[in-house]
Amino acid sequence: MDRQEQIEILVDHFQNPRHRHVIDDAAVTMPGGNPGCGDVITVYLKPDDDGTSIADVSWEGEGCTISQAAASILMEMVHDESWTLDDVLEHDYTTMIDVLGKEAVQMRPKCATLALGTLKAAVRKHQRDILRREAGLDASAPLPGDISDINDDGLGIVVGDEAYKERMGPNVPRDH
Ligand code: FES
Repeated sequence: MDRQEQIEILVDHFQNPRHRHVIDDAAVTMPGGNPGCGDVITVYLKPDDDGTSIADVSWEGEGCTISQAAASILMEMVHDESWTLDDVLEHDYTTMIDVLGKEAVQMRPKCATLALGTLKAAVRKHQRDILRREAGLDASAPLPGDISDINDDGLGIVVGDEAYKERMGPNVPRDH
């Protein structure tokens, strides 16, 4: 794919975003923010009952052309290629280089990886929620053992409540 084709795909996804909607019965609702600009996207993840597949996944949010197009392209890949939860965790920024081009990802790495980093955080939260349930712990209890943080990709984005703070300041409640 040459650079012109990549730009055309990027613009098309920005103007006609795929899978951009709320999933009301999502198991995980995960915000992810780019600290460099304060933009936030939210990923909605609904895993399948089989414990490995993804029944549905979507997103919504605001941001620059690259971040919004990257989110749309990523969600289309997850749906069209039937990614499993493990598949999500195996992908990294090189996946975004393949679809957006090296130049865009190198110039705007946080914009390009915002959706992927947020989706990975959603999968990790889901896995941690399962571990908590199996251990009989409530949602806020610390997990036993060496469980990695939900945001350990080094992609430079922030996830969870921290993402809302990036957008609105630390003293503003998230639902205002
Ligand atoms: Fe905000 Fe790209 S400038 S996500």
